[in-house]
Formats: sequence, C-alpha cells, structure tokens
Amino acid sequence: MAMGDPIKATAASLGSKLPAVRRSSARASRLPGSVRERRVGTDQARADPLPTPDLERFLTGLAETPALWRHLVRHDGNARVFEQIWDGDDVNAWLICWSEDQDTGFHDHDDSAAAILVVDGHVREERLRLDAAPDARVLGPGTTFTVPAAAIHRVLHAGSVPAVTIHTYSPPLRRTGTYSIGPRGALERAPQSYERELRAEVALS
Ligand SMILES: [Fe+2]
Repeated sequence: MAMGDPIKATAASLGSKLPAVRRSSARASRLPGSVRERRVGTDQARADPLPTPDLERFLTGLAETPALWRHLVRHDGNARVFEQIWDGDDVNAWLICWSEDQDTGFHDHDDSAAAILVVDGHVREERLRLDAAPDARVLGPGTTFTVPAAAIHRVLHAGSVPAVTIHTYSPPLRRTGTYSIGPRGALERAPQSYERELRAEVALS
C-alpha cells in the first residue's frame, strides 16, 4: 500500500498547488525536549489533527490534482481497489474504487478524523446508532463529507455504475477498529492495522 516513487515525484512537482501540509518533517524534533521525552515509547511522532476546514481544503486540492490519482482508477468486481496517494506527517490519503456490493462494514478510524470526496458514482454512508437503524445517506459526485474520529461508520457502493472516492485522514490513519457481535449479543471492537482491508464479512453489517 505504500506510495511508489513515481507518485512521490508527481506530488513533489505539484506540491505548490496543494494546501500547505507537512510531508516528511519529524514533528517530534520540533517539540521542547521535555515534551519529547514524555512521548518516548508512546506516539512520539503522532501529529495533532488538522482543523476540519483545513482537511477539507487539502481534500479538494487532491481532487483538483488528478495527475496524482486518475491513472490509478480501476475497478475489480471481487474487491475494492485502494491506492495510497498521499503519505504525510499531518495527512494520509487513499483513492478507493467501488463496484458491485462492496462494503467496508462498520468501523472507526481510531483517533483520525476523515474527509471524503465522491469523484464518480455514488456511495452510501451509514453511522451506527444504538437506539435506531443506522443513519444513512447516499452521496454523489462532487459531494464531500466528514467523519469525526468519534464516529462508527460504514461505506457501501451504491447505484449501478462504479464509484470513485478520495479519503483523507488526520492525524494520518494508522489503526482502525472493526465491530462484531460477541457472546450474548454484546458489541465487540477489534483494533487492527490500517494496512488490513476493512471487510463487511468480518464486521457488523
Ligand atoms: Fe471509514
């Protein structure tokens, strides 16, 4: 899933067109020594989340720079196609291509907030509720939506034509949580690496 050198080169050449976010600086090195010492062994390099408007602006900048992602669009009826298109200290981002009945299942983004833009086609987003059916909405081309770190949500392909979405996360997505029904009907969360694909069949759906 790591971003390849050609993409990094393209990103560097187009960097001036994108909102100013840090790509590779070591945030911890800018912290006062006492703070850095307290963070050793925990999340020393973890960035603070970008304010939501900044994350949305960055997402818009990515979408308006198709040289970073358009060549990666392809659809596979057997599985979602996802390609990382940005890897920075403040934000990471993926292009996701949807078809058939592809579905993430309910999950969270650990401590990362997300901003997502629908490029082509439609997806349905559902937010898990305890006292009612999921809060669902169908989103079409040009629509941006945000997902706070506190949310438990699910994204599914909707409509009859393949869809393309761009997902940005801040601080950069490192872990996710998936949900299932455990003994006596209890809701259970399983933490996992962001490198493991989210699948509806192993999550509450
Ligand atoms: Fe998500």
